[in-house]
Amino acid sequence: MKALILSGGKGTRLRPLTYTGAKQLVPVANKPILWYGIEEMVSAGITDIGIIISPETGAEVKAKTGNGDRFGAKITYILQDKPAGLAHAVKVALAFLGDSPFVMYLGDNLIQQGDLSYFLKQFTTQQQDALILLREVSNPSAFGVAKVDETGRVLQLIEKPKIPPSNLALVGVYFFSHIIHDAIACIQPSARGELEITDAIQCLIDNQKQVTACQLDGWWLDTGKKDDLLEANRLILDTYLTTEIFGEIDSQSQAIGRVQMGAGSKVINSTVRGPAVIGKNCYLENCFIGPYTSIADNSKLIDTDIEHSVVLEGAKIVGIHQRIIDSVIGQRAQLTVAPRRPKALRFMIGDDCQIELT
Ligand code: G1P
Repeated sequence: MKALILSGGKGTRLRPLTYTGAKQLVPVANKPILWYGIEEMVSAGITDIGIIISPETGAEVKAKTGNGDRFGAKITYILQDKPAGLAHAVKVALAFLGDSPFVMYLGDNLIQQGDLSYFLKQFTTQQQDALILLREVSNPSAFGVAKVDETGRVLQLIEKPKIPPSNLALVGVYFFSHIIHDAIACIQPSARGELEITDAIQCLIDNQKQVTACQLDGWWLDTGKKDDLLEANRLILDTYLTTEIFGEIDSQSQAIGRVQMGAGSKVINSTVRGPAVIGKNCYLENCFIGPYTSIADNSKLIDTDIEHSVVLEGAKIVGIHQRIIDSVIGQRAQLTVAPRRPKALRFMIGDDCQIELT
């Protein structure tokens, strides 16, 4: 059994963060989203992992993630020279996959820990050609959608339908036998110009191959947008965070609930209410860090109240007199108070940023 994790694409829905980096490397609870998928594979016993990368962000993904040693896996990087679809990515990975059955996992998706092992067992014991996971969603038009009969058998899969036949979305985790390569060879690019894996699975169904759909009860998040990213951060902190404090918390400060803090960080005259994670070498003074906040390494926060937010590496937030909530602050971004008159708002805002002022 092999794994193919997709970490290419342009991440347009997560701009501006993705102008400067891969969407799969954006951290959730201070860990790149992509790494959760890799860890899930390893804990399900799959250690031969191919990662699809793009020319734009491939070097960064490779440099950060490495050869797999840190995960107990062997990682092979496979370049997809253009974002021509999920089925195209499988095509590009043919030499790596060979005749092996494999799990395909979209690198920006997160599923509840343990679910992958469970469905892998179902797939391998039942000798399927494909096992797909479905999950009820409120906005099916944003996904691949399944039309199923009353027994749960999949009749049709449609990619991003305008009028969805059900509210069952295709989760970005698929199990395939080598037969999928024949199906991919038969399909044509879709209206959006991509070779869709959804169409390849439809081709399997049309040819009476063994395609099983299982409903996912655990949580699933496609972290491609800001609110989904914040929700993923909340869920991961809520479910998995354990207290572990390195660095220093002075006597005027308190850490309440589950709080993780990395080495070299300092907390002065502040309250940190968990679940919250603070990376390495951060400096926090006169702050309130509320629940569901992740602050990455080398960040500096002074006179700041923040909660339910994700702060990326090296950000600086000083003296903002209103509580910051539901926010994602990019790497090295600076939010400070005007040091001079006239009192005014002064911005240097990158493309596609979203700012809400009261
Ligand atoms: C892709 C698939 C879609 C699936 C979704 C899950 O969409 O094409 O069928 O439901 O992932 O995250 P994309 O994220 O490429 O728009």
